[in-house]
Amino acid sequence: MKIDSKKYPLPSRFRHHSSPNLYLPLSELKTIPDYYPPLIEEIRWNDLFANGKAPDALDIGCGKGQFLLDFAELNPDLNILGLELRKGPVEWLNQIIKGENIPNVAVIWYSVVNGLDFIESESISKVFYLFPDPWFKKKHIKRRAFNKKFLEMINKILKPEGILYIATDVSDVHNYHLEILNSINFFRYELVNSDSEWKLPRTNKELFCLKKNIEYYRVKVYKNL
Ligand SMILES: C[S@@+](CC[C@H](N)C(=O)[O-])C[C@H]1O[C@@H](n2cnc3c(N)ncnc32)[C@H](O)[C@@H]1O
Repeated sequence: MKIDSKKYPLPSRFRHHSSPNLYLPLSELKTIPDYYPPLIEEIRWNDLFANGKAPDALDIGCGKGQFLLDFAELNPDLNILGLELRKGPVEWLNQIIKGENIPNVAVIWYSVVNGLDFIESESISKVFYLFPDPWFKKKHIKRRAFNKKFLEMINKILKPEGILYIATDVSDVHNYHLEILNSINFFRYELVNSDSEWKLPRTNKELFCLKKNIEYYRVKVYKNL
């Protein structure tokens, strides 16, 4: 979907938080930083989606949401929920969703590292984890949301035939994802080399990579049944 930049001007810069604590689970924090997204224990889907149903797909770290909005437009029968750590993009996307009356997309200000207990088990058909913040340095790895616990949580909420989609433009992060996937037995994965196998709209970061000719890596993850 083409976003009308006059109607929905993009703030000049969405705040990027440098506080490491923002990226850690609340349970590990002694002091809670400003702008830490609130915990969610229960959600009324009625308040978020026009058909009142739970989401079919999750976009974790949806950022500026081009993928989220395009996926919703291309899949009118599916509800997609974006989860985003930064409040700015969430508020901006909510203006668009409300202003354009898009029935099947919602965005919440939430950090996925605090769990997904508010999502029913085996209810989600697609989870997207696309171009997460890389956190290059070794000492920053604990800020990455992707780990064994994350995959256990995704395994719990995915339907048996559900798929987790992962993408990154950082080869170290790609290798880190594969290393963790190789260490568990409840998922198998395939590397994706073409758009025809991927069959998904582009994200903001992916469009940037294509423009700048930056290589990126895509992986589809399936449940081992
Ligand atoms: C590099 S951006 C990519 C955004 C989008 N997926 C794309 O491909 O254009 C990564 C996004 O993940 C968000 N993020 C990082 N950690 C998160 C967390 N624990 N929970 C939710 N979102 C998170 C960041 O705020 C940022 O907007």
